Amino acid sequence: MASEVVAKRSKLESVGGECKCHGKLPDDRFDKLRDVIDEYKDKPGSLIPVLHEAQQLFGCLPEDVQEFVAKGLGVPESEVYGVATFYSLFSLKPKGKWTISVCLGTACYVKGAADCLEALKKELGIDIGGTSEDGLFTLEGVRCVGACALAPVVVIGDTVYAKVKPEDIKRILAEHVEAHSTEAHAS
Ligand code: FES
Repeated sequence: MASEVVAKRSKLESVGGECKCHGKLPDDRFDKLRDVIDEYKDKPGSLIPVLHEAQQLFGCLPEDVQEFVAKGLGVPESEVYGVATFYSLFSLKPKGKWTISVCLGTACYVKGAADCLEALKKELGIDIGGTSEDGLFTLEGVRCVGACALAPVVVIGDTVYAKVKPEDIKRILAEHVEAHSTEAHAS
């Protein structure tokens, strides 16, 4: 049976998304970040919530944002870098327009998720954590997304693709781009 779209997901595991950095970071976002830092500064365990807010503002956590947070909270830059790289919800690099989450949970793995992942890597020319050259897709592996009966499952943006086969990958990517271009034109 060919893969199919079975549901729309309202939320991804990742809090990333399209990066808004554009290489240069406008001051108004740093002003907002300063307000956030001031709010959390004297609270214990403030680094993670501040980084979370910073990522919401900038779309990712580039070096200058990490430095700003370190100075603002009075913690070493190495500590900020350590936390930003330890937790998968943080990203140091801009993410693609859509995140592709390949479920690597047991049920999906048994049904061939690894082959789907390989097909995606080959098609996009990237590894896990990478973003395609056209800036459209970021690839990641995730644990069970709670749809084991539909294994193997691949989630692109907020769309769930079920029973995916490696040979479906090229078509799924093309259809995803086309469907969202159509939506953009229709709105
Ligand atoms: S293991 Fe993939 S949805 Fe459960």
